[in-house]
This record gives sequence, C-alpha cells and structure tokens, in this order.
Amino acid sequence: MSHKLTRREFSAGLLAAGTVAAVQRSTSGVLGANERVRLGIIGVGNRGDQLLNAFKMHDDAQITAICDVYDPYLEFCAHKIGGQPFVTKDYRRLLDRNDIDAVIIATPDHWHALQFVDACRAGKDVFVEKPLSLVVAEGRKMVEVAQETGRITQMGVQRRSSALCRKAAELVAEGAIGQVTAARCSFVRNEWPMGIGNPPDGDPPPGLDWDMFLGPAPERPYNPNRGLYMFRWFRDYSGGQLTNFGTHFLDVIQWVIGKDAPLSVMAAGGKYAVQDNREFPDTQEVLWEYPGGPLVSFTEHSASGGDLYGKPAHIEFRGTKGNLYIHFHRLEITSTPVRTMPLAARGVADRAADNRQDRSTERVIEPFEFQERVLDADHARDFLDGVKTRRPCICPVDVGHRSTVTTLLGNIAFARQKRLEWDADRERFTNDPEANKLLSYEYRAPWKLD
Ligand SMILES: NC(=O)c1ccc[n+]([C@@H]2O[C@H](COP(=O)([O-])OP(=O)(O)OC[C@H]3O[C@@H](n4cnc5c(N)ncnc54)[C@H](O)[C@@H]3O)[C@@H](O)[C@H]2O)c1
Repeated sequence: MSHKLTRREFSAGLLAAGTVAAVQRSTSGVLGANERVRLGIIGVGNRGDQLLNAFKMHDDAQITAICDVYDPYLEFCAHKIGGQPFVTKDYRRLLDRNDIDAVIIATPDHWHALQFVDACRAGKDVFVEKPLSLVVAEGRKMVEVAQETGRITQMGVQRRSSALCRKAAELVAEGAIGQVTAARCSFVRNEWPMGIGNPPDGDPPPGLDWDMFLGPAPERPYNPNRGLYMFRWFRDYSGGQLTNFGTHFLDVIQWVIGKDAPLSVMAAGGKYAVQDNREFPDTQEVLWEYPGGPLVSFTEHSASGGDLYGKPAHIEFRGTKGNLYIHFHRLEITSTPVRTMPLAARGVADRAADNRQDRSTERVIEPFEFQERVLDADHARDFLDGVKTRRPCICPVDVGHRSTVTTLLGNIAFARQKRLEWDADRERFTNDPEANKLLSYEYRAPWKLD
C-alpha cells in the first residue's frame, strides 16, 4: 500500500538551510528546447504545493530552490522535490542565486509586489499568483519594473490557459450570443454560523517566522486566522473572496468581452450572519459598468447555500441572442427567444395575442456544449515556453494587473459606500479623493517598494 506523506506527518529534520543544489549553468540568452528551466518557489503552502505538482509534470522544469517562512512546509516540500534543493526562509537569499532562471511566487497577496519586483531586478522571470497585488499602486509598479527589466511574467489565472475559456472568448467574439449586455460571476458557499471561527491571539506555531510572514503589513500579534491560508479573510493581507475568486472570474470576463477596465463600480453587502473574526462581508454584490456595456456583477454568498439561479455557473455572459455559461469543466450556450414589444397603441386583446406569439418565437442560436478540464499544468507549460523562447505569456503582468485592479476597485467602492467613477488611463477615481487614498498603503519599515 502506498502511503502519501502529509505535511503534518513529515517532521524529520530535513531542513538544511543553505543546502545547494549541484546545478551550475550560465543564465544568458534563450534556453534550448531540451534545456531545463531552473525554478525557485517562494511560498510552498497550499498553492505553492499545487504549483510544484503542476510544474513537475513537465520534464524541462527543475525546482532547484524553495523558500517559505514556515519550517514544516519547507521540510515537506524539500522531501517531495528530493535531490537537496536550496532551502531558505529569506526569499532574498533565493534571488541571490545564479542557478535559478525563474521564480514562482505563491505567498499571501501582500507579499506579491515586493517579491515580484525584487525577482525581476535579480534577473528572474516570474510566475506570480493571483491576485497580482493588494493595492492598485503595487500592481502599477510591478508592470513598470517588469517592462524595465524585460522579464517574462505570468499571473496564476490558469483559466487563461484553458481551451474551454478560449473557446468561450472565440464564440463571443464571433457573435455566438450576440452583443453581450451583462455578465455575472458568483462565489457561493454556506459558512453559517461559525465561518472561520474566532480564535484568540497567541504564539505563532513553532517554525513560523511571524515577522517575516507579516513583512510590509502592519505589526500584529499572531492570530491563527491571520496566518497560514486563513489570511485571505483579513484586509492587511488580502482582498477577500472578491479578489481571491473574483480575479479568476473578472480576468475571464474582461478577456471574453474584450475590455480591460470598467468606467464605474458600486458595491453593497455586509457581514449579516457569519459569526467569526473575518473582516470581509459574508454577503455582497459588486457591480461594474463597462464603456458601452456590459454591466458586470460579482456575487458573494458565503452565508447561504446552493447554486445561484439553479445553475452551477461560476461565470455567465448574457447576450442579445443567448447566454453562455462557464461551469468548472463545461461550457454551455443557451438560446434566448427574442420578444418583440407589443405596440403601445394596441388594445389588451391584441397584446395578449402578441404575448402568445412572442413565447413561440424560434431560437436564434443552437444550444452548444464543450467539455474540458482547467489544468494548472497547461498554465505552467505556457510560462516555461515563455521563459525559453522569450515570447510573452498568456497572462503577463500588465494583463494580470488590469484583471486584479477591477476586483480591487470593488473593495474600495464597498469601503466608500458609493458609486465610484474610474479613469483607467490615470488609474484614479474622478469623483472621490478619499477613494484615491485607498489605491496605495504605507509599508511597515524597513520594507519599501521603490
Ligand atoms: N491560482 C489559484 O487557483 C490559487 C489557489 C489558491 C491560492 N492562490 C493564491 O496563492 C497565494 C497563496 O495562497 P495559499 O492558499 O497557498 O496560502 P498558504 O498560506 O497556504 O501559503 C502561503 C505560503 O506563503 C508563506 N509565506 C508567507 N510569507 C512569506 C515570505 N515572506 N516568504 C516566503 N514565504 C512566505 C506562508 O508561510 C505559506 O506557506 C495567494 O495569493 C492566493 O490568492 C491561487
């Protein structure tokens, strides 16, 4: 019987900080087709481990170094990789190495910008997880530094590499559902009543460098809900489910509608039912208006169950001829019968006749289905190919920035409780100076993003 090692079970003292993988090679120029891309992973928790699996599926990917601020994860990961990778708790030591071509950043969101910028300046190509940044100004800086340094970049929105989503974009561009007038996406999960609970502050678990976990975020006593994985419910480290799932969804929506920035944003909701120490609403609705349409919405229902609208759709596009649903592994198009309005001047009996007529209107398009799995490995492949050939990836940092910004605007609209108008070129709100103050934040010393 094979025994799968869990992180918890693996406690042997494998961690040998400073252990050097015996790989030496100059990193100049384009890599040959058969050459391996040497990778360092920064953040080997939940997502870092998933990405390790994804990259390991490619023979030309070699993980030579890992970094995390939690020893048990480092030990687990080092053992899984085998062959004595370089192991460190300080990502700057990993970036110093010249036996690494590219890094994968899978740390909490508040670390992405600093680690990304430092990696670019250290000459590494970067695969960075979504959401790109915690605030808009960080993302702008990341785009600028990637351009200045000529690095190949990819944001971890794996749906970009999915044939299913590509098919959706092609179909909509071909006019398969007519003009898209509305799009919506939803995250629904019933966490009532206790959610993530309300644990007291306390000592960090052994092996966790809490100060380095916090990094540029404000100094805080350790709380288990602010730490590993749970950070996503706290504003110092994350934008909540709106940026966590929303970046995936809004990235697909902006790709499919061919527009990368809204004109305005509104948000409403609250922490209505879940009794835990999260800082985000358990129920919210965010609405973006794009130039000439569509109207796009994100729904979070974290305190009510079931699928919305009777369909397990995560993303849907509603057009003048039909609707397109992107389920996890399935794309579906349904037809919308067109209803012509009865003429106002006509009598009630005529209108009733018209209504009967409308209901029998023929479909204008045929229903359609397409199945495929969304695979992390495909997104990893695209990055490896980008690194080797120096061609841009499918979701480079500038595209990832635009998708992330849209979600970040939603949180600002929620904080300001008003409809905000957005100038995407200047990356400023035009009708609320207070909202503009939320586009950046001051890092805790000594951390600086410059
Ligand atoms: N693309 C996806 O489908 C997907 C899925 C899950 C998570 N994510 C993203 O991945 C990121 C990480 O989320 P997670 O669920 O893996 O959380 P996690 O807490 O499980 O993992 C984050 C890891 O980063 C480590 N870390 C914190 N500060 C660090 C530092 N300064 N240097 C090195 N390591 C540090 C933590 O110790 C932890 O092990 C988030 O940005 C999240 O949005 C993406």
